[in-house]
Amino acid sequence: MELGLNGKKAVVTGATRGIGRAIAELLASEGVDLAICARNQQEVDTAVSALAEKGVKVTGSVVDVADKASYQQWIAKVGDELGGIDIFVPNVSAGGGDMSDEGWVKNLNIDVLGTTRGIEAALPFLEHSANASIVIIASTAGVETFMGPQPYNAIKGALVIHGKQLSQSLAPQGIRVNCVSPGPVYFEGGAWQYIKENMPELYEGTLAQIPQGRMGSPEEIARAVAFLASPAASLITGVNLVADGGFTKRVQL
Ligand SMILES: NC(=O)c1ccc[n+]([C@@H]2O[C@H](COP(=O)([O-])OP(=O)(O)OC[C@H]3O[C@@H](n4cnc5c(N)ncnc54)[C@H](OP(=O)(O)O)[C@@H]3O)[C@@H](O)[C@H]2O)c1
Repeated sequence: MELGLNGKKAVVTGATRGIGRAIAELLASEGVDLAICARNQQEVDTAVSALAEKGVKVTGSVVDVADKASYQQWIAKVGDELGGIDIFVPNVSAGGGDMSDEGWVKNLNIDVLGTTRGIEAALPFLEHSANASIVIIASTAGVETFMGPQPYNAIKGALVIHGKQLSQSLAPQGIRVNCVSPGPVYFEGGAWQYIKENMPELYEGTLAQIPQGRMGSPEEIARAVAFLASPAASLITGVNLVADGGFTKRVQL
């Protein structure tokens, strides 16, 4: 199947490692020009060099999505530099389970506002795209009970609901909005490697709940994102695509 991504322009936040990096790699392989950000200059430079080897235009900057002004200025700048934005993937999360006020505020600032502010800044460009697509990275933590009560789960659920709302309001402008909810995803340097090494019971207990018997890879999540972002998914808007090897047990009616 031809995805029709060649020549498109995408902005992916938090793309120096893990899922964001895999999304950027796959989009670049499909011929998509890219703007990426993260907070570590050296890691941004390394990612930009690797992505540019795929022969597309790549720009990367140190941006903290919690800083509204610099985040939105960066999106406006890269939208001009790339000559537009067709695809926006807000991927950054604060993660974690800090139940203090500070924890809730951190997840609100980074997960929710990192998504809504990014969309606000990208909209003037998306409105001019013939294939405008927003793919929000949510989590299975937002659709079923997982671990204990914590801001991460509630905030991810909020993103799924907001994505659905946006899909309705932006459809008349030709902008599709979907979510991808990964189940546990394992990669070197990621949260699940840390959990495996430091909380082996939690790691094994989680693994035991995945019918496929393994955690996902960033590349498997990236393929779900690339499809939803592409013109091949032209009729699809407002979905929350769960990619979890059967980890969640609900029936998605
Ligand atoms: N891994 C999983 O099992 C899993 C499961 C479900 C959902 N997810 C979701 O998938 C997304 C990616 O998670 P991940 O585990 O692949 O990666 P991650 O380890 O959380 O890293 C994400 C990327 O975001 C950057 N980043 C972090 N905070 C940032 C900030 N404030 N501003 C700009 N960039 C920032 C990181 O670089 P710097 O630290 O250098 O900034 C890195 O490039 C998240 O939304 C997460 O909730 C992950």
